[in-house]
Amino acid sequence: MQDFSPADHFRFPDEPDAVELRAFTHGLQPATVPRMMEHFAEDWRRFGVDAWNEVPNHWRPDSNDEVGWWTLPTYLGDEFIAPLLGAPEGTCIHQPHVHWTVQCLLSAPEVAGRGDRVVVSDTAFPSVLHSVQQWAALQDLAPAIVPSDDRNQVDRRAFLDRIDANTAMVALSHVGFTTGARLPDAFLREVAETAHAHDALLALDGYHAAGSMPVDVQALGCDLYMGGLLKEACGSSGNAFLYVRDGLELTPRLTGWFGDAAPFDFRPDPEPHPDVRRRFLGGTTAVASMYHAVEGVRLLLNYGLDAVRAHSLDLTGRAIERADTADLPLRSPRDPDVRSAMVLLEVAEAEKLTAYLKNHHIYIDSRQDEVVRMAPFLWNTTEDVHRTFDQIETALSSGAYKNASVHSTGPVT
Ligand SMILES: Cc1ncc(COP(=O)(O)O)c(C=O)c1O
Repeated sequence: MQDFSPADHFRFPDEPDAVELRAFTHGLQPATVPRMMEHFAEDWRRFGVDAWNEVPNHWRPDSNDEVGWWTLPTYLGDEFIAPLLGAPEGTCIHQPHVHWTVQCLLSAPEVAGRGDRVVVSDTAFPSVLHSVQQWAALQDLAPAIVPSDDRNQVDRRAFLDRIDANTAMVALSHVGFTTGARLPDAFLREVAETAHAHDALLALDGYHAAGSMPVDVQALGCDLYMGGLLKEACGSSGNAFLYVRDGLELTPRLTGWFGDAAPFDFRPDPEPHPDVRRRFLGGTTAVASMYHAVEGVRLLLNYGLDAVRAHSLDLTGRAIERADTADLPLRSPRDPDVRSAMVLLEVAEAEKLTAYLKNHHIYIDSRQDEVVRMAPFLWNTTEDVHRTFDQIETALSSGAYKNASVHSTGPVT
């Protein structure tokens, strides 16, 4: 990485030899976060309730744009989230989490009005998969859950075949969270065309894609694209986002007075805000998280998403080479075109190996005690990958990891 010193931009754990490889679950903290959180405390103290109308623009200090807590969700949407997704101004908004966004979406009669099925892959994250099932009875929208193939990846042919005249919406994860498999653009475009031919909507959950690679929502042809800023985008909880295709009319019933056209008129009847994306706001927006929401996005955009992706592919490629040498079967894709930022390896007693590495300040995670996941990302070096695999090889050959206590690993998202 030329001209990019991770130590200048990120805050690392205390151990000087720490190797953080869990970008897929919670990226490192950007160096500007403490200052931004001080700004939050100071704005609150100095301006009190007036901060809803105006605070200094800490997010774009060089601009003359006026911001206040009231307008931050759309301001961050335009200035930071839209560039992450190749989306035009006016289409993106900050959200608290994907669960909320999907619930809002399913509550819109314009979804159910298009058909009586939501076609969803069984590989979708629970925030999508469970929500689709929870809304089924309320909206006459039966879930059509398409089983994955024998590698736990989206069965592309079967998925396309399920989209028909009854389909109201199609939902897919851009990157599978259990496989690290990225759906190819050509397939997603075919899904979009098929869905649109039946007047259905395409909603993509890009949690593990946005921030780790360039995404172009318009080229993909999706109607909605959602995700979070916790992982590769290095934010913390309370930070997610939504893109709504320009011109798409949606009036979610699960909306709040912050999504009303005239919130301070306190009229007896609700009236949806003219800006469709704002209708995805609920009650009083949580403000503190928006102070640190986009500090990681800022770094990724400054570095350039093409360069972020190139670095990630280089390091995941090296990890795969080392896994091959160590005879560790790969659970995630090898092909760079369908690889994401994460590499999954099959290892017996994966939890113990994870705990052992943690004791050596190398942070990965495990799933179902049968795979380990790692995502060497922007702050990692080739040296980090080699140190990790040197330790893995030592652990496996000596069997020392079998004595590691798994209590230290704990659940991670
Ligand atoms: C693909 C995917 N979608 C969504 C989420 C999170 O959803 P939510 O924002 O509802 O917690 C995750 C993981 O945390 C995920 O991996």
